[in-house]
Amino acid sequence: MSAKIIDGKAFAARIRGRVTEHVANLKAGHGITPGLAVVLVGEDPASQVYVRSKGRHTVEAGMNSYEHRLPADTSEAELLALLDRLNADPAVHGILVQLPLPDHMNESSVINAIRPEKDVDGFHILNVGRLATGQKAMVPCTPLGCLMMLRDLHGELSGREAVVIGRSNIVGKPMAQLLLGDSCTVTIAHSRTRDLPAVVRRADIVVAAVGRPQMVRGEWIRPGATVIDVGINRIPAPERGSGKTRLVGDVDFEGVAGVAGAITPVPGGVGPMTIACLLANTLTACCRIHGLAEPEGLTV
Ligand code: GUN
Repeated sequence: MSAKIIDGKAFAARIRGRVTEHVANLKAGHGITPGLAVVLVGEDPASQVYVRSKGRHTVEAGMNSYEHRLPADTSEAELLALLDRLNADPAVHGILVQLPLPDHMNESSVINAIRPEKDVDGFHILNVGRLATGQKAMVPCTPLGCLMMLRDLHGELSGREAVVIGRSNIVGKPMAQLLLGDSCTVTIAHSRTRDLPAVVRRADIVVAAVGRPQMVRGEWIRPGATVIDVGINRIPAPERGSGKTRLVGDVDFEGVAGVAGAITPVPGGVGPMTIACLLANTLTACCRIHGLAEPEGLTV
């Protein structure tokens, strides 16, 4: 069997197109322009790339982008003071603090200082609780993107066996909640799971979010299963020349594509969906804050 390759790049472009259209309607009909504030503390090179890309896509969708770059030695009190200002700013509908934060800051205190309605990452404890109890929440972007791709591929997910590998707060746990919300039978597997291959072999849907390059093997996959690869790992690629590297997921793509029914590639799978969902969340936050109807199909 040769798996269908899920084109996350094309799907994300469709989502961004719908967001752009809604943003134009909001502006024309209500004179409102959604605004996203992104806060970066320090100079982590990967975070700088992400933040630049988020800003560019925000502007391309017709929204306002506010970037706040703070030095690595910024105190937590200074960061909290900035968040207070952004919470109160009516032009800002979404606030994202890029993680990881420097070691001297308490991540939970910072995240929980964001107004939950503006928490476009969905990491605030109130949004985590709302998602877990089936209430209207801001939903973390990466799992939301994965769910959108699964719904697009399968339509109804009810009754399917889903195995999420990884138990992070950013991906694994919210992914499991979303799949449960769609009435899947959900297992969360992790580094201590006994006989992981046997657990994964039960799944109709596998979501790999462990951060271990190419860990999930073809032999683990039930023939015809759908495999969503959230991993982004840089590994040496001597075949491309000395010192060269390449990006791979948490899934051994070649081996798994021979068994699975559908698979997301890395790059070009889940990655582009994360930013598309960030834009969708900013639009959703803006509509909720202004008491306007939310766009269909851009959140759960
Ligand atoms: N760092 C890595 N992934 C994320 C994310 O989804 N949101 C934020 N704020 N920081 C991150």
